[in-house]
Amino acid sequence: MDKLIKLDIGKTSGFISRADIDGQAALAKKCNETLHDGSGKGNDFLGWLDLPSSITAAQLEDIENTAKTLQEKCEVIVLVGIGGSYLGSRAVIESLSNAFDWLQRDRKTPVILYAGNNIGEDYLVELLACLKGRSFGIVNISKSGTTTEPALAFRILRSELEKTVGKEEAKRRIVAITDAARGALFTLAAKEGYKKYVIPDNVGGRYSVLTPVGLLPIALAGIDIRQLVAGAAYMEKETAPDVPFEKNIAEIYAVVRNGLYRKGRKIEILANFNPKLHYMAEWWKQLFGESEGKERKGVFNASVDFTADLHSMGQWIQEGERSIFETVISVAQPNETLTVPADGENLDGLNFLAGKRVDFVNKMAELGTQLAHVDGGVPNIKVEIPKLDAYNIGQLLYFFEKACGISGYILGVNPFDQPGVEAYKKNMFALLDKPGFEKESEAIKKRL
Ligand code: PA5
Repeated sequence: MDKLIKLDIGKTSGFISRADIDGQAALAKKCNETLHDGSGKGNDFLGWLDLPSSITAAQLEDIENTAKTLQEKCEVIVLVGIGGSYLGSRAVIESLSNAFDWLQRDRKTPVILYAGNNIGEDYLVELLACLKGRSFGIVNISKSGTTTEPALAFRILRSELEKTVGKEEAKRRIVAITDAARGALFTLAAKEGYKKYVIPDNVGGRYSVLTPVGLLPIALAGIDIRQLVAGAAYMEKETAPDVPFEKNIAEIYAVVRNGLYRKGRKIEILANFNPKLHYMAEWWKQLFGESEGKERKGVFNASVDFTADLHSMGQWIQEGERSIFETVISVAQPNETLTVPADGENLDGLNFLAGKRVDFVNKMAELGTQLAHVDGGVPNIKVEIPKLDAYNIGQLLYFFEKACGISGYILGVNPFDQPGVEAYKKNMFALLDKPGFEKESEAIKKRL
C-alpha cells in the first residue's frame, strides 16, 4: 500500500548536470531542516508540516459525521471559498470522482458546486437558478473571514437558503470554517450558531487542504479522508529531513526546479494526461505561485491538460522561447479498462489500435510528447502516481507542499506569506468606497 510516488528527473540531464544537483543537496537538506526546526522565514505558518501525522481519529470521525448529516439533508452542497479555501478540496474531489456522476439520478453523495471564487454576476444568477427546487447546503470557508468574493456569495446564498427552508433549518445546513477567534465569518457563525470548524492559526490557506478546509468537502463528496491522510502521512515520513537526499523526492524536485530557474528556465508548466487532474494543477499553481512569486523572483507556474492542449499550447511548448521546463504528472494505471473495438470496414483507419487499451494509446502520446519536448529543448520532470486513489492523492498533496516549502527557502523567500495579494484588494475597496479606505479612494479616483 505504501507505494511511493516516483520522481524521474532523467530527462533534465541535458539541461542540468548531476554535479549541479548534488552541489545543491546540502542546501536543500538545510532548508528542509530549517522548516522542521522552525528557524526560517514565515515560521509562524508551519502547522501544515505534521498535519497528516497529528490529526486524530476523533477529529476525522467528527468531520465524517458532519458530512453524513449534510449528505442526508442535501442533494447539492455549495462550497464557498477562494484560493486556498477551495482549490485543494476541488483538486481532490475532481481527481477522485466520476466525471459524469452529477448526471446520475441515484447519486449517493451530494453534487458539489462552487461559489465565492469569482464575482461573476451571471455565474451567481445561474447558480441560484440551478438551486431552485433542490435541497442544498452551504460550506463557507474563509480563514480571514473577510475576503470579499466568498463573503458576497455567502450573503446571497444564505439569504436564498433562509428564504427556501427557513432560518432554523438553514442553520442546520450551513457549516463555517474559519479562524478560531477573529473575522466577520467567525462573528456571524457564532451569532447564528452554525456548526464551525477552525483553521489553525499556523496553517496558511494554500497549505490547508489537510485541515477541515479540505477534509470536510472531500468527505462530503464521498471520498475516504482516512486514506487521503494516511497517504499524506506516508509522504510526511518519506520527505523528512532524515531521509537521505538521493531518496528524498521533495528535496530533489526543489533542487532541480531551482537549478533550471537559475539557468533561465523561468516558467514551469505542469502537464497531465488525465482530465481529472485539471484542478490539481490549479491548486499546484496557487501553492507554488503564491509561495515563491515575490521579491521580483520566482518561477512562473503554468499548466496544460494533454492531449487537449497539445493542439493549442503544444506549438508554443515545442518551438517557442526556451524559457520553460515541464513537470508531468503521470498516472501509471487507470482505474477502469476500455479497449479499442475492431471495425470490419476500418473507414477511420484505426484498426491498428484494435484490441489495445485506450490507456496504452494515451501512454504512447505521453511518451511521444516527452521525447518531442526534450528534443525541442524542454527539460522534463516526471512525477508518477501508481493510480488515482485517495492514498496516492494524499501522497501527492504532501509531496508538493513539502517541495514548495523547501524550494521557497532555496530561493530565499518567505514561502508562507502573500503580501502582493493585498494590492488589488486595496484598490478595489477604494473604488467601492469601503469605509476605512477614504484616503485611498480619493487618491485612486484622481488617477481615473
Ligand atoms: O493561500 C492563501 O492564504 C490565500 O490564497 C487564501 O487562501 C485566499 O486568499 C482566501 O483567503 P480566506 O480564506 O481568508 O478567505
